[in-house]
Amino acid sequence: MDEHDMGEDLEKVLFTKEQLDERLGQMAAEIDADYAGEEILLVGVLKGAVMVMADLARKLHTPVEMDWMAISSYGSGTKSSGVVRILKDLDTDIIGRNVLVVEDIVDSGLTLSWLMANLGSREPKSLKIAALLRKPEAAKVDIDASYVGFDIPSEFVIGYGLDYDQKYRNLPFVGTLASHVYS
Ligand code: IMP
Repeated sequence: MDEHDMGEDLEKVLFTKEQLDERLGQMAAEIDADYAGEEILLVGVLKGAVMVMADLARKLHTPVEMDWMAISSYGSGTKSSGVVRILKDLDTDIIGRNVLVVEDIVDSGLTLSWLMANLGSREPKSLKIAALLRKPEAAKVDIDASYVGFDIPSEFVIGYGLDYDQKYRNLPFVGTLASHVYS
């Protein structure tokens, strides 16, 4: 899927495929430096983190395993509520392991705040967050994300894993939707 397939539904491209690729390379280098001599369990949050996980993991030199969680945040439309239910838990025991949660976006922070408390109680050796995007203006709770790709304004974005109504996840770039799509 590309810009042309979006037609009038695309407002603008925020980050091109090349920009995402470059930034993920920088994040991977930082992660490799921080975890030198260690192994990492990457925990991706379905479904949004699929693209970030796939590309970030392939840029890392540190030995990694990958696991996935699916959680549903009760909320209406484009807002999350922080009330979370586990749809799919990890297959792996994380006691004593270096867990790096891989996320597409930190918006209000409510989902991640819940997830970090949940994973933290399972006694990992370390627990950190890598998120491609963050909306600082939207933060309702403080999230200490160790690796952040880009800070963006508080507008709804799609592409590269991020959806609107389950669509547009397969766009290779991150962009904004034209307002007529919502209304
Ligand atoms: P939070 O709990 O408000 O931080 O939201 C977390 C989840 O909401 C993210 O992992 C995304 O799946 C979704 N989300 C938040 N903002 C956006 C957006 O701009 N576009 C698409 N999904 C979003």
